[in-house]
Amino acid sequence: MSADLTFREPTEDDHARVLAALGPWWGGLKGEAGAKERALLVPRLYFQHFTPTSRVVERPDGALAAFLIGFVSQTDPATAYIHFVGVDPALHGQGIGRSLYEWFFERVRELGVRKVKCVTSPQNTASRAYHARLGFEVSDVLPDYDGPGLDRVAFTRGLAAGPA
Ligand SMILES: CC(C)(COP(=O)(O)OP(=O)(O)OC[C@H]1O[C@@H](n2cnc3c(N)ncnc32)[C@H](O)[C@@H]1OP(=O)(O)O)[C@@H](O)C(=O)NCCC(=O)NCCS
Repeated sequence: MSADLTFREPTEDDHARVLAALGPWWGGLKGEAGAKERALLVPRLYFQHFTPTSRVVERPDGALAAFLIGFVSQTDPATAYIHFVGVDPALHGQGIGRSLYEWFFERVRELGVRKVKCVTSPQNTASRAYHARLGFEVSDVLPDYDGPGLDRVAFTRGLAAGPA
């Protein structure tokens, strides 16, 4: 992965540019409705209340290169959840997504987490392949998981007590 990239904690000012990436970076997945669905899944509150377990990645000129939004479960402190991740398509396949996930695994392991979960759309084949490579187990399609017509597949990965 390029050493020129900077990882840092997000701030509220990052909200608008992450929103702007949700259309193009997902390659127009599920069209206009998909872009709207994704935007509604990333409200400002994530940039206010979830920043210690989230990261943005920037190029040397400050342009957004990638982001990860994640948190430790309030219900089960031994479980963490990755809510959203995106990498600029121009930078795909360079290990940035893996670096973000490995950072997250290490961060939440320090907090006592032993299991990481996330979900994605069944149509998002890239996300399914990526999560499989990162060691996640994948569920069958879960119909209407997030509401009528909003099917999902769920990913689960254990975290050993030691380093990744
Ligand atoms: C999924 C995504 C985050 C992967 O980011 P990335 O930086 O390209 O991934 P990496 O280069 O770190 O790849 C990590 C591993 O996953 C594999 N992988 C990544 N994308 C893949 C794809 N489309 N198909 C097959 N394998 C893939 C890589 O080969 C790599 O394997 P390796 O480390 O064992 O060689 C990126 O494609 C993306 O932003 N997609 C659009 C947004 C999205 O779908 N987000 C997830 C749902 S919220």
